This record gives sequence, structure tokens and C-alpha cells, in this order.
Amino acid sequence: MRIAIIGVGNIGRRYAGYLHEHGLDTVFVDSNGQCNHRRVVEVSEPGRVDAWIVSTPTDTHLGIVQEVLAQAPGAAVLIEKPACHPAQISTLIGLATRYRDARLMVNDVYAHSATVEALASATHGRSASDPVRRITVEFSKNRLKDMAAGRFVDQVYGDVGYEWFHMLSILRALLPRPDFDSFLNRLPDVATAGVHAETALASNINIALHSSVIGDIGFPEIGLRYITAAEPQRHLRGCTIPYGSDFRYRVAAVDFQSGATATAVFEPHYGRTTNYKNQHLVEVRAGGLTERHDIAENHLRRALLRQIEVITTAGPHDDARLRLSEHRHMARLADLLQLTDDRRPLNIA
Ligand SMILES: NC(=O)c1ccc[n+]([C@@H]2O[C@H](COP(=O)([O-])OP(=O)(O)OC[C@H]3O[C@@H](n4cnc5c(N)ncnc54)[C@H](O)[C@@H]3O)[C@@H](O)[C@H]2O)c1
Repeated sequence: MRIAIIGVGNIGRRYAGYLHEHGLDTVFVDSNGQCNHRRVVEVSEPGRVDAWIVSTPTDTHLGIVQEVLAQAPGAAVLIEKPACHPAQISTLIGLATRYRDARLMVNDVYAHSATVEALASATHGRSASDPVRRITVEFSKNRLKDMAAGRFVDQVYGDVGYEWFHMLSILRALLPRPDFDSFLNRLPDVATAGVHAETALASNINIALHSSVIGDIGFPEIGLRYITAAEPQRHLRGCTIPYGSDFRYRVAAVDFQSGATATAVFEPHYGRTTNYKNQHLVEVRAGGLTERHDIAENHLRRALLRQIEVITTAGPHDDARLRLSEHRHMARLADLLQLTDDRRPLNIA
């Protein structure tokens, strides 16, 4: 199989490594001049590329997808999340409509995570007899050093452009579909830039999401029990991840009416092992009993390979693969927080 990666920066380089380990042929495109090609049009025999991965900065995604489809109208394309900026959502739909044979998919890493699956299965197994009261999800890190080193900065979605899509994936796995749709279709009751958003659903489930790219921690109490090395304990107690730290705080917690809890903590062994990025845990506490699942997985790799399999074997266009409702939700939230004044649609020839 031959895969083209367009945009070989932080994330594209990691994909290149995974595809190489998996024995797949790769061709690299990056405008920085350090790869096989600078532009999509330079790729030889584009019809013989089995899948294209677009991992450039967000505002360039759709222009590049258009270039790919002009060369190979039935192409299988995995587009980094978010697929596009708010004003470009109609362009994304337009491309999908115009190129019906193309298989476009937005990369949804946490939709393929065994850790999320374990948390969702614990939640659904319990919720029939013990309703969910509250779901809290936090993804925070300090990206300032990365940004200073030239990593792309999302100036349209702001904080919503980095981790929010991943947090929505977790929520989609935990909530009944009507609740998830209702969450996506309304604005939070409280939202502050940072971004911290709280929503009370009609089904009596409260949702709290928090994400910061400057290291402000919103819900330290969830991780304190599980992330035990001295350095992250300091960050959690101070509610701040300092500049230069590579600690990523990623947790999801479900509280049930009875007082039972189900908690997922990604990378809890940070500061204790070198392979901490691929070790996660899910713990259920109910009626004085604790059930713990340690999960070893590289979910980025797993999601990449699974989604390549989907787009190279699936039938033509399917709207569900574009996560349009999630994009509209993020657009409305960025708008509410005045993180964006983006009203410029992208005109594609
Ligand atoms: N799925 C995930 O978990 C995840 C994680 C990080 C980033 N991302 C997404 O991946 C994308 C890239 O993020 P990053 O952090 O790797 O950025 P980055 O700045 O590290 O890398 C971007 C690369 O794209 C290249 N590039 C820019 N414009 C281009 C163009 N027009 N044509 C070809 N190459 C071009 C740059 O030279 C650079 O090498 C973003 O959309 C981001 O949201 C996803």
C-alpha cells in the first residue's frame, strides 16, 4: 500500500514512523522543501496512492484536499482534526458533495481508543440501574514552548482548536446519542475562555469540559489520586502546568447518582516510566469496591491504522466520517467566546 503524508511536522512525522513500522510505502509532501515534494501536484501517479493524510495547519486543510481530489477524484483522504475553520464548513460539505466517490474522513483518535471503550462500557453497564449525574473531561497542557518553536497556532478556533474535538469523542462514547446531539446543538450554560464549559442536559446529566493550552488546570482532583510522581503532583496541586513541561493532563470522570464513579486517566505514569505515553487506566469505584483496568495502547497509532483501513476499504462518501455536528458545535463555541471573528468562506474553484 502507498500512503502520501502532506505536512510532515510534529504529527505528520509520528504518522510517518507508524506507517514505516507497519511496512507501508510512503511519499512525503511539505512546503518547507525538506520532503520528497513541496506540492501535491508533484506526486507521481496520484491515482496509485491508496490513501492521503493531510496533517498541515488547519486553515490549509481544505485547499490541500481540493488539490488531492483534482489529481485523484476518488481518493481516500484522512484529514487532521479539526477538518477546517468555522467559515469553511460549507466548503467541506461542497467538496464531499462534488466528489461523491472520494472517501473523506476526519481523524478522530479517541473514537478508536481502548481506554475510552473501557470507560464507555463501564458507564453503559452501570447507567441503567444507576443514572449518570455528571461527566467531566479535561485535556490541558502547556503548548507555549511548542508555539515559540514555530508549531502552528490556531488563531481562529483558539483553545477550542486543539483538544476540544478529542473531548467530544469521549463524550460521544459516554452519552446516549440523543443527549450527545442535544449537547452539540446547544451552547453551554457557562463558558469561559480557557476554555471551561458547563452544560446541564434535559436528561439531568451535567457536562463539564475544560481545556487549556497554556497549562491552566481546571479539575486537578480527578488526577491527584492516580498521577503520583512528584513533578505532576506539584502541577496538579498548583493547578498550573509550567512553560516547557511536557506533562499532558487528560482525564474523564463519570459520577453516578449512587456516588459511584468511573474514571479514565491517560498517561498516569508520567514521571515514572519512559513509555508512559502508551499506558492508561480506567477505574470504577462503587459500593466500597474498586475495579482497575490498566490499558497499554498507542491510541494515535491504532486510530491511524484503523482509519486508513476504513477509508481504503469502505464505500464512497459517508457524512458521519466528517463529524460535521462536532465542527458546528466548536464553531458556535468559538463564536460565543469571541475567539474568532472568522466569517470568510474558503472559495474553492
Ligand atoms: N490528531 C491529533 O491528536 C493531533 C495532534 C496534533 C496536531 N494535530 C493536527 O495536525 C495538524 C498539524 O499540526 P502539527 O502540530 O503537526 O503542526 P506543525 O506546525 O508541527 O506541522 C505542520 C507541517 O505542515 C507543513 N505545511 C504547512 N503548510 C503546508 C502546505 N500548504 N502544504 C504542505 N505542507 C505544509 C509545515 O511546513 C509543517 O511541516 C493540525 O491540523 C493539528 O490540529 C492533530
